[in-house]
Amino acid sequence: MCGIVGCILNKDNAVQFILEGLRRLEYRGYDSVGLAVIIDNNVLVVKDTCSIEQLSSRVDGFKAVVGIGHTRWATHGRPSRKNAHPHVDCKGEIALVHNGIIENFEGIRKQLAFRHNFLSETDTEVIAHLIEENIERGGNFFKSFTYSIALLEGSYAIASIYRLEPDTILCAKKESPLIIGISDKGTFCASDPLALKGFVNELYSLRDGEIAVLKPGKVEVYRLVNRNVVLRVKPKKISLVSFLGQEDLKRSDGTATLEEIREIPYALQKSLIYREEELDPIASCLIRSGRIHIVACGTSYHAGLIGKYYLTKLTSLNTITYVASEFTYWANIDKKDTVIAISQSGETADVISAIKYAKKLGAKIISMVNVPSSTIDRLSDYTLYINAGPEIGVAATKSYVNQLSIELQLATKVSIELGYEDSYIYNEVVNSIRECAKLSSEIIAKYTPLIVKLAKSISSKNSVYFLGTGLHLPTALEGALKLKELSYIHAEGYPAGESKHGPIALVEKGFPVMISSSYLEARDRILSSIEEMRARDAWIIAVSNDDKVLSKADVNIPMPKSNHLVTPMMFIIPWQLLAYFTSKSKGLNPDKPRNLAKSVTVK
Ligand code: F6R
Repeated sequence: MCGIVGCILNKDNAVQFILEGLRRLEYRGYDSVGLAVIIDNNVLVVKDTCSIEQLSSRVDGFKAVVGIGHTRWATHGRPSRKNAHPHVDCKGEIALVHNGIIENFEGIRKQLAFRHNFLSETDTEVIAHLIEENIERGGNFFKSFTYSIALLEGSYAIASIYRLEPDTILCAKKESPLIIGISDKGTFCASDPLALKGFVNELYSLRDGEIAVLKPGKVEVYRLVNRNVVLRVKPKKISLVSFLGQEDLKRSDGTATLEEIREIPYALQKSLIYREEELDPIASCLIRSGRIHIVACGTSYHAGLIGKYYLTKLTSLNTITYVASEFTYWANIDKKDTVIAISQSGETADVISAIKYAKKLGAKIISMVNVPSSTIDRLSDYTLYINAGPEIGVAATKSYVNQLSIELQLATKVSIELGYEDSYIYNEVVNSIRECAKLSSEIIAKYTPLIVKLAKSISSKNSVYFLGTGLHLPTALEGALKLKELSYIHAEGYPAGESKHGPIALVEKGFPVMISSSYLEARDRILSSIEEMRARDAWIIAVSNDDKVLSKADVNIPMPKSNHLVTPMMFIIPWQLLAYFTSKSKGLNPDKPRNLAKSVTVK
């Protein structure tokens, strides 16, 4: 996680650019923020655990053409001023920002500790001291930088400046994303293309093991072969398409998440971008596959569970869904297999590792991402864009719904290709999703007042259960994840039939139990689960289109009776709203839950 930016500008407004870049990268972490600029041949560093706006007031009037900035998600060392980036060497001449984890930092730190003064608990600080050490041994900035980078193990995107070479930024990349941009305004680097929107007209992505030298108006890229050998290489150009659909960014002032939930009807319409024939190559790839492995994390994992349901029920293809961080321990990969990687950001480190592992074993990769040109997009043989538009709130909301829509379109296409369904079914599914977009808008309008009230009661609870079965088990898991991350209330989602195998032990009078169910599936199981809970005086809240289930609940949120397969796209909305309003009711900022970041770029 963490976001980094850097610039060498033609005008002295580097601070303004860095602050804007950091605002756009804040979704990557916001534990602390900082920047370093070169002014009058000195490196000035300003950093703290404050907001970007507070930082901005501290650097008002700074005039610089060169600088780097960082927004942090803490891995090594708690969020604090001293652990905030940029980090500097002993003399304060080298400043450096880093995203990733340096796995061998303890060893390096031990070696340097007798000569260098360490101020932080971070893994990053060792890099600044390593460069200093190499400069003291007679290297110039570039040589000392490359020599130091060659010693690092782990993952990194790094940008560094040096007082004595004030027209240079040096960058290095391994496993964490880093892109470079150029325009007549200047030369830039950043963790993602969004940070550079409007500033550049050429974009390049650094590949693992590459080092970039940014100078006014030009960039040189080198491949690090070993400590002493670097080869100049042609930079890898990427398309400016990364900016498409990235409308003006909303500020994360507590309303982005709600806006994004309210955008679901529109996002769902935009998920219908693929004509049936455009799915041909991907459908053929799946049909030719041995097994299909779906890998994803968090909310995208829950979408992956529904993807498995769709593929299994509609196509009977052999599909397994894994939490990406567990993939290498559990999966048995053959070169005939296909991996479907699902990721909103396209930058999730655990998903990237799973993809790399599967690729090495010869599997094909299909990805579903929201961010074009992201690392996962670039690593894939085929990509389906979920087209949800920018999602700034840390909690995934509209992207989840669009992931489901794309999965259903693909599974339907595969089932038609396999001859299980007639080809007119594709249009029927598209129409159901369109209908679902319309109904979502009605759900949001109709139930928001009820959910605001419900959220007030939930905000005083310590623990909540979410129960579902079949297609709505992932709805329950996702409902629990949303409530937990936005309101900090313990929430657990599990299959309804499991209550009696343990979880019911916690249930007492007033314990909230959230039911997600559709009348077309597992009605008896859900009804008996409700009875078990009612017998212990639990407080039942149901999101369902089953009148019988609704009649048994203390609070009922009736859902439309539509095509069973699209119901998860709607039934999640009340749980998303509940999580949002519970967070608000507790006085929290739902856009930026503590300890989290939008893009999880560390393993
Ligand atoms: C939860 C949430 C996370 C992400 C997870 C994967 O609201 O946002 O659980 O779903 O970190 O992120 P992506 O989809 O970007 O790979």
